[in-house]
Amino acid sequence: MTDQDRIFESLISEKAVNSFNDAPNARYKQIMQSLVRHLHAFVSDVELTEQEWFEGIGFLTDTGHKCDGLVRQEFILLSDTLGVSMLVDAINHRHSANATETTVFGPFYIEGMPEREFGENMAFTPGEPALVRGRVVDTRGNPLGGAVLDVWQTAENGMYSGQDSAQPFGNLRGRYRTNADGYFAIRTIVPVCYPIPTDGPVGRMLEAANRHPWRPAHLHFMIEVPGYRKLVTHLFNRDDPYLESDAVFGVKQSLQVIYEDRLSHDDVSEQLDIQVPFKRACYEFVMEAV
Ligand code: BEZ
Ligand code: FE
Repeated sequence: MTDQDRIFESLISEKAVNSFNDAPNARYKQIMQSLVRHLHAFVSDVELTEQEWFEGIGFLTDTGHKCDGLVRQEFILLSDTLGVSMLVDAINHRHSANATETTVFGPFYIEGMPEREFGENMAFTPGEPALVRGRVVDTRGNPLGGAVLDVWQTAENGMYSGQDSAQPFGNLRGRYRTNADGYFAIRTIVPVCYPIPTDGPVGRMLEAANRHPWRPAHLHFMIEVPGYRKLVTHLFNRDDPYLESDAVFGVKQSLQVIYEDRLSHDDVSEQLDIQVPFKRACYEFVMEAV
């Protein structure tokens, strides 16, 4: 490359960045100019060929075509598998005292799932019976009564209801509420690890990179209490083989729980008349005031 080539190429980048100079919205201008600067730096860095540029455009086009606006959101999946979702999460939840850590929301949440009683069973498909119980508290340890815990997980076949038409409505989903002392109890099955969808461009990307598509077993939570920051997180099974290689980089040490074997009743399992033996996981969620 001659000096003249170098000057010409950097002039193209400068012109593209400057084309956003007059954007009336300052934040929009900042985002677009930084995006263009980084995109140009990337293209220059790898010296993208015309064929590679064309393949990139094809990949993004396929990603858009794969989205159905309902249960399949391939762009979110792309963001997740590139680690972008977790970076956005980290930037927006910088260390807040001792509040529970957050993780990726994922594309399989469904709004308006059934409200469930304390200890109600949300599993209508087979699995290893489990009781997930604990408390929701503020950062000083005071119990938060009336907190709403929206929870979801896959069935044993690794699919979420909504994704799999064979599962009954509301299977492994529900909205639980803490009692006046901040306690909650969820009857379910032990979560299993599962692969993210690979029948689209993201799957092709993983394959080309020799990456596996597995997520370690987890239970999703979205917890809301008026006056507190909404908490979006998971509880991961501590013995899962994929904890170190989650396809979407979502694992945090503080979010791991053990599903212990209970050979006898505890106060809650007795009250709920749960059959012994069962698996039990306990967790205390700490909410940060807004
Ligand atoms: C999930 O845990 O549901 C999920 C998160 C990111 C990508 C795919 C699935
Ligand atoms: Fe999930």
